Amino acid sequence: MKIDIVTIFPEIAEAPLQSSIMGRAAASGKVEFAFHNLRDYTRDKHRQVDDIPYGGGPGMVMKPEPFFEAVEDLRGEQSKVLLMTPQGTPFVQAKAASLSHEEHLIILCGHYEGIDHRVVEALVDEEISIGDYVLTNGTIAAAVVADAVVRLIPGVLGDDASSEVESFSGDGKRIEAPQYTRPSVFREMEVPEVLLSGNHQVIDEWRENMAGERTEANRPDLLD
Ligand code: ADE
Repeated sequence: MKIDIVTIFPEIAEAPLQSSIMGRAAASGKVEFAFHNLRDYTRDKHRQVDDIPYGGGPGMVMKPEPFFEAVEDLRGEQSKVLLMTPQGTPFVQAKAASLSHEEHLIILCGHYEGIDHRVVEALVDEEISIGDYVLTNGTIAAAVVADAVVRLIPGVLGDDASSEVESFSGDGKRIEAPQYTRPSVFREMEVPEVLLSGNHQVIDEWRENMAGERTEANRPDLLD
């Protein structure tokens, strides 16, 4: 898979996507990341990417021309163009899974008050939000989406099973049971005895119950 990220702050996406598991995924050729500075797609002396909004109002709006230049330069037959925006469809694990089968993602990142809507109408396949809050820019959101997608590419996680039994996998309606590691007693807090029993049928049942309880407590919305 190839992922092109178009932003005025490439360094914000570079740090998380060049480190750790994402860095290794790129080094082994399972994904190719490219970070593009939107200003490189301007043609004016000041490399201007924003302007005042038609109709008035506070803040600035990102100009359409650099986004059109960027997408026209980067896209191929197989490309899917995403725009990171708080006005997008909420990003969930099932979306990460479906995007992990794409050949080529171009992720456009907004900044300031918004983006000229002609970009959305003419270039964007999907507008994606990572949650109901507003970040200073979409580049952080692009790194989140890229990480969630790339870790699902076969071979990227050391143990492929680890993405199968995790929170939100399957029907997406459940979070995982709590986990413990050694020591079995720490500051007088004991690991649940069932986990030390070696009886995997009982352990599976316990995890199933705990996942249910935890989902009820932390994410009742998933059960509605
Ligand atoms: N840009 C600013 N806030 C965002 C959000 N919540 N999701 C995606 N892009 C954003």
